[in-house]
Amino acid sequence: MRIEIDRPWDMHLHLRDGAMLNLAAPHSARHFDGAVVMPNLVPPVADADALRAYRSRVLRAAGTDAENFTPLMTLFLKNQTRAELEAARKTPGFFAVKLYPAGATTNSDGGVRDFGAAEPTLRAMEELGIPLLVHGESGGFVLDREAEFLPVYRALARRFPKLKICMEHISTAAALPLLDEFENLFATATLHHLLFTLDDLAGGLLAPHLFCKPIVKRPEDRAALRAAVFSGHPKIMFGSDSAPHPVEKKECAGAAGGVYDAPVLLPALAALFAENDALDKLEGFLGGNARRIYGLPAPRGKIALEDAPQDVPAFFEGENGLRVAPLFAGTRLPWRVADGNFS
Ligand code: DOR
Ligand code: ZN
Repeated sequence: MRIEIDRPWDMHLHLRDGAMLNLAAPHSARHFDGAVVMPNLVPPVADADALRAYRSRVLRAAGTDAENFTPLMTLFLKNQTRAELEAARKTPGFFAVKLYPAGATTNSDGGVRDFGAAEPTLRAMEELGIPLLVHGESGGFVLDREAEFLPVYRALARRFPKLKICMEHISTAAALPLLDEFENLFATATLHHLLFTLDDLAGGLLAPHLFCKPIVKRPEDRAALRAAVFSGHPKIMFGSDSAPHPVEKKECAGAAGGVYDAPVLLPALAALFAENDALDKLEGFLGGNARRIYGLPAPRGKIALEDAPQDVPAFFEGENGLRVAPLFAGTRLPWRVADGNFS
């Protein structure tokens, strides 16, 4: 079988910097029309100058594919003033502000500790029409982190009714009803939360390459996410949360959170949607919803996917000995992008 879909969007992507950026950016830029690029660098991307400079580095790293790839840039929420937000808004490619609860995930130590103190920034964003993207976890037992965070989403959605708020990478059944409850709440979902549960991560031998934040959850959570996505839920957008770490930071004591799936996203999603008789919903999930919700530009053409096998390498190599293991490393995928490329 072969299908053609509009060139897709990845609404939540970690591209990093330096050698890792050079390795990762081409994997997304080849087939995606654009991506929302996360700001959790060290130091975080928190002002207009940093945002402008990072966008140039992303475009340079995307190489020849940069022509057809739009990186939409995000600011790390640090209680910016209205003037600082206005400066960011004038920067080409500026898209949104990302809220990290302090310490929730990689490089988030400078995140929000006190929601009251963030209020003036959120109010200014609402007035300026700047979307808010939220990493929705707080403290507590790891399985219930998202559930504990749901009251925060409710409070934000009520307090800032004109602010577009996106629950990034929803991972539980409990998060889904909020999409019906609040007009201004949206969500991104990842491939790995649609594919895996805690049993895949730790039910047998530990699989550190499946370790991510939010952690993959219970079978019933995965089932609820699948049901919503495969039914073509109009408020759920694809955001991979592809988050590369060097192999030695994943295969060690104290492994970093993050699944690197940018190179295999399209074949893996096509296979998953095909198995579930939902191929007709793939295009909306992969871009149609995001284009409608955020008014993104029309697609720059189509991309073809086919059910022909493709072997995934054990790792991708970058500069200075950098090695990154992709999701499905060393296995055979049943689908591929018809041009035969991973990236
Ligand atoms: O697993 C994750 N890794 N989740 C995130 O939210 C951040 C990401 C990273 O930057 O490594
Ligand atoms: Zn992320």
